[in-house]
Amino acid sequence: MSIKQMTIPGDFILGAAASAWQTEGWSGKKAGQDSWIDLWYKNDRQVWHNGYGPAVATDFINRFREDVALMKQAGLTHYRTSINWSRFLTDYENATVDEEYAAYYDALFAEMHRQGIEPMICLEHYELPGTLLETYGGWASKHVVELFVRYAEQVFARYHHLVKRWFSFNEPIVVQTRVYLDALRWPYEQNTSTWMQWNHHKVLATAKVVKLFREKGYSGSVGCILNPEVTYPRSRATHDVKAAEIYDLFYNRVFLDPLVHGRYPQALFTLLEKHQVPWDYSPDELALIADNTVDELGINLYYPHRVKAPSRAWHPETPFHPAYYYEPFELPGRRMNPSRGWEIAPRIIYDMAMRIKNDYRNIDWFVAESGMGVENEGQYRNRDGIIEDNYRINFISEHLYYTLLAREEGANCHGYMLWAFTDNVSPMNAFKNRYGLIEIDLADNRARRAKKSASWFRQLRDTRVLTL
Ligand code: BG6
Repeated sequence: MSIKQMTIPGDFILGAAASAWQTEGWSGKKAGQDSWIDLWYKNDRQVWHNGYGPAVATDFINRFREDVALMKQAGLTHYRTSINWSRFLTDYENATVDEEYAAYYDALFAEMHRQGIEPMICLEHYELPGTLLETYGGWASKHVVELFVRYAEQVFARYHHLVKRWFSFNEPIVVQTRVYLDALRWPYEQNTSTWMQWNHHKVLATAKVVKLFREKGYSGSVGCILNPEVTYPRSRATHDVKAAEIYDLFYNRVFLDPLVHGRYPQALFTLLEKHQVPWDYSPDELALIADNTVDELGINLYYPHRVKAPSRAWHPETPFHPAYYYEPFELPGRRMNPSRGWEIAPRIIYDMAMRIKNDYRNIDWFVAESGMGVENEGQYRNRDGIIEDNYRINFISEHLYYTLLAREEGANCHGYMLWAFTDNVSPMNAFKNRYGLIEIDLADNRARRAKKSASWFRQLRDTRVLTL
């Protein structure tokens, strides 16, 4: 058996991620402070695994000191989470800060600095205030873009000295894709035009907060966390390659191009026009996007997407959906994570790195989420009560290997963040698939217990050597 060793550069981030809504719980939430995700949970609790949702989550808000101590113990250099927009303000129009909720962030950031862990903060991770969805149609509205900027202004003013790396959104494409393209999540409405409007307004909102941050002269950076889907065609045949290109256009380039190059791909305008999908943008908005591209990207990478040319024609009356041009393709003999139904293909990180190097001006970026969700992890508990998650250690090792390899070959990739630090609540999957270095024991008052991967991660950090 050959043993490979790779050195992890001293400035390379070895961190883990989470979000506000998936961890905090907040019994002090006031009337009107629900987010989109809270409303989905309220309206549709039965689709959430075992009924767990954002209400208590991991109770991080009451236990963050314990968790930050565990972060230190596990050797994290950075921890990424979000501030929950719906909770941070009591009045979204005037951006009035909820001092009670903000006091918790004051304390959290102070504690993280005390323990030597750098915070990286998203302004939104599926946490659009529900009332803005009900009143304005959410990101379909240009007014909501303005309200987001007002919110960002308050957050930056309060925390610019404590947080140096900001991100407008986590996975800005996801909510509207699930709700308006695929009608798989509440409020289940298919409307491709609304989908594109949400995309555009999130791109515009990112440019506006980048501009705001720079105009205020704060030190630090503003980026965005994307989840581009590394897409492979079934074959090199022209029709399969075209299917992959169109998938890439609608799911990846729709955010990557404007955020990094400052412009949408021409092919996107052309196809949306061809299929009569209207969206509202102005020359001034496009100019603002062109002038305010992001400083860095975080990239969430879990599994590859494989597509082939569609095998059936679409009915001309069917509203346009990008799947008009492609179908999913399952690679025979692929390696799978059976709990999540996702293919395991660590090379996606290398391929994404080379894409960014060649097509996206080798912008600074880091792996912002990578991880393996596993069901019924209790079966791997040893006699000392510790979950021996060797599969997770292997998963991280393989994915980190390709990250470091890409860096050696000139990619500007400066970190790897595991999803997630602790087990947490996911949309619908709730606590079903466990992702954490730290177990959350729901049967024991959400007690925290380090898994084997936590001590392995600590060693990785201490030695800065990855051994495969
Ligand atoms: C990521 C999201 O895409 O996937 C997280 O940013 C989510 O919020 C994670 O929890 C894992 O999802 P799931 O459904 O496998 O638990």
